[in-house]
Amino acid sequence: MSTEKIKVLIPQLPLADAILPYMRRIDEKRTYSNYGPLATEFRDRLGVLTGATGVTITSNGTTAIEVALRIRARPGARYCLMPSYTFIASAHAVCNAGLTPYLLDVSERTLTLTPELAKAALRDLDEEPAAVLVVSAFGAPPDQAAWRSFEEETGVPVVFDAAAATTSIKSVGKQPLCVSLHATKALGIGEGGAILCSDESLIERATAITGFGFLGAERVSAIRAGNYRISEYAGAVGLAVLDALPERLAELQRLTDGYRARIGSDKQSRFQEGVGESWLTMTLNVIVPPDAVAATAKRLDEAQVEWRRWWGFGCHTHPAFADVPRADLTTTEAISQRVIGLPFHNLLSDADLDRIVRCLP
Ligand SMILES: Cc1ncc(COP(=O)(O)O)c(C=O)c1O
Repeated sequence: MSTEKIKVLIPQLPLADAILPYMRRIDEKRTYSNYGPLATEFRDRLGVLTGATGVTITSNGTTAIEVALRIRARPGARYCLMPSYTFIASAHAVCNAGLTPYLLDVSERTLTLTPELAKAALRDLDEEPAAVLVVSAFGAPPDQAAWRSFEEETGVPVVFDAAAATTSIKSVGKQPLCVSLHATKALGIGEGGAILCSDESLIERATAITGFGFLGAERVSAIRAGNYRISEYAGAVGLAVLDALPERLAELQRLTDGYRARIGSDKQSRFQEGVGESWLTMTLNVIVPPDAVAATAKRLDEAQVEWRRWWGFGCHTHPAFADVPRADLTTTEAISQRVIGLPFHNLLSDADLDRIVRCLP
């Protein structure tokens, strides 16, 4: 008897029936884009959910980062400090904002760039960087207080790539948080993104950049911009997603608890700090000891369990970014091998969880 493969991720968005009442509103109104009523209601409800007083919806998470950096980057400076260990979208967004990534290492404990690592880079660089892009690791809430102090101390503007952290965010300050609403995220609408920020003028400028730079006077382009809006159809999906969010988060909690209970304290594998306690994610990783990586991968493959290194081995290993400047990346090189993304979706049974966890050291 052949064993059925356990897939690593099976995204699930609301079914057509849940979206239909919102689609009917589009039919009645005949507004299809340009910050229409559904996209606006979705934006406002996202603000309530995250505690953000200002929200700009964007076409995806990558454009959210690009727009926030375009506003915050210091004019004339070229480098954006960022961790090499992130999804490659972060590096593309930095370049699309007209900056050059300057790749830094991460902490082994948090898998993120820290203010200490960024300050060390500032000492080594002989020029002031334009900004720092701080990446949330797989949906863990970023340490906003520490980065607020960093910016006060150094003057380097901070932008957060909090792509997978939409449902983990508890408060929002003046440093913009950029999130992804891709189908693979806990709050996924297909394609979409958002900038969350308490700085009203940043949000006003960010919204203008999503719509041809129209700021102040109607149809007058005041700043260089583009078209990064979402359609009303995306707004309809977003509203249906928010309606069902409590049940969805309960499901993510149940799965995370299932994994945590099985791994317990007997195994050497560890989860990211706080996952399942203070935050949830669709990309649940275990971090395995260095000498257990190869055997773990082999056991998962033999048990027909699909797994993934969601962020690969760092941006510096991609040909498109082979020539960008970087600091020492020793921890990135080591830890990126050890972070293993486990299957995570609502079709996993108790027996599946048993089969997966049996493969872990
Ligand atoms: C860390 C990180 N940054 C940026 C992005 C880009 O988001 P999007 O796919 O919505 O453009 C992702 C997407 O997975 C991500 O994981």
